[in-house]
Amino acid sequence: MMRKIGVLTSGGDSPGMNAAVMSVARSASLYGIPLIGIKRGYNGLLRKSTNIRDDLQELHMETVLDIADAPGTYLRTARCLEFMDPHYREIAVNTLQAMEIDGLVVIGGDGSFNGAKELCEMGVPCIGIPGTIDNDLGYTEMTLGFDTAVNVCVNAVRAIRATSRSHDRPAVVEVMGRHCGDIALMTAVSTGSEIVVVPEVPWTVEQVAAKLNKQLARGNTRATIVVAEGCWATMAPFDLYGFLTSHGKQCYEGEPMSAVRFASVMKRMCGMVEARASVIGYMQRGAEPTARDSTFAFEAGNLAVRLLRDGISNQVVGMQKGKVMYMPIDKALACKKNFNRNLYDLANSL
Ligand code: F6P
Repeated sequence: MMRKIGVLTSGGDSPGMNAAVMSVARSASLYGIPLIGIKRGYNGLLRKSTNIRDDLQELHMETVLDIADAPGTYLRTARCLEFMDPHYREIAVNTLQAMEIDGLVVIGGDGSFNGAKELCEMGVPCIGIPGTIDNDLGYTEMTLGFDTAVNVCVNAVRAIRATSRSHDRPAVVEVMGRHCGDIALMTAVSTGSEIVVVPEVPWTVEQVAAKLNKQLARGNTRATIVVAEGCWATMAPFDLYGFLTSHGKQCYEGEPMSAVRFASVMKRMCGMVEARASVIGYMQRGAEPTARDSTFAFEAGNLAVRLLRDGISNQVVGMQKGKVMYMPIDKALACKKNFNRNLYDLANSL
């Protein structure tokens, strides 16, 4: 029997984290296991705060019932670099022992899962729930927050395309996704955007300009280019300063490419009167979870607690063939994430 369970959210916040915490809390309450919320990811276990309530907080039903559909994460979140150091992990294990916490639910992405794996090796039973908007984990068909993030982007792009249409202007829209272009691809396909640029596929500025010119030649004066935040890292070298300054636009030497600069380049390479850029940013992370994300959170939270209750640990919960499942953390982390290259090619060619 677990004396207490802990729950934490870690890494970038994602819509549905609160819903998952609520499900963990309701399940723990049903099975008669007290629940401790750990604040700011693994940091809460390092006991850095002078007031213990800033690190650890008993989670009662009244609290969690209020937060289920709230955006953000009530427990706060952080990336905890110290946790890579065994010394700090020892402190964390000591905190858990002192608090009589016998199992931990970790809601986060791959970095957070690596921390959970280390804790399991030190004798602390852990279960992971994939909480990240990026959908960058190979073992699961969905991560908590991805569906919400895509829907936010779809609504934004639809509005942007309406204005693009009114003015016959192309648009560049940047969505999130550091190493994974899933948000960009789903957004582009769902909105009929003509061009999508992702980190998984190396690309050149000239190629994108050629695609935009092709759209213009076909009479499409308002194409949308959806780019993933991480795509600038896989762009072939381009002399931004040289190009812009030789086309009458001020720029400072060494300035990195960005959505705004990219729109300026496209406008000049394709002879457009105007091309605008929009960066959707944290609206994707701070949105209210969709029904799909909330449902996954509900099932995943309950499964995580049941696994701990039944003495099963070192696992992550996910979704395969539309069903909530679990598998060992190691195996899950080793699964390669497949990017849908066929859909990407189709999106860029129609
Ligand atoms: O992992 C989610 C994510 O939103 C990525 O898409 C993005 O690159 C990263 O977090 C940015 O994180 P932050 O804004 O916390 O630096």
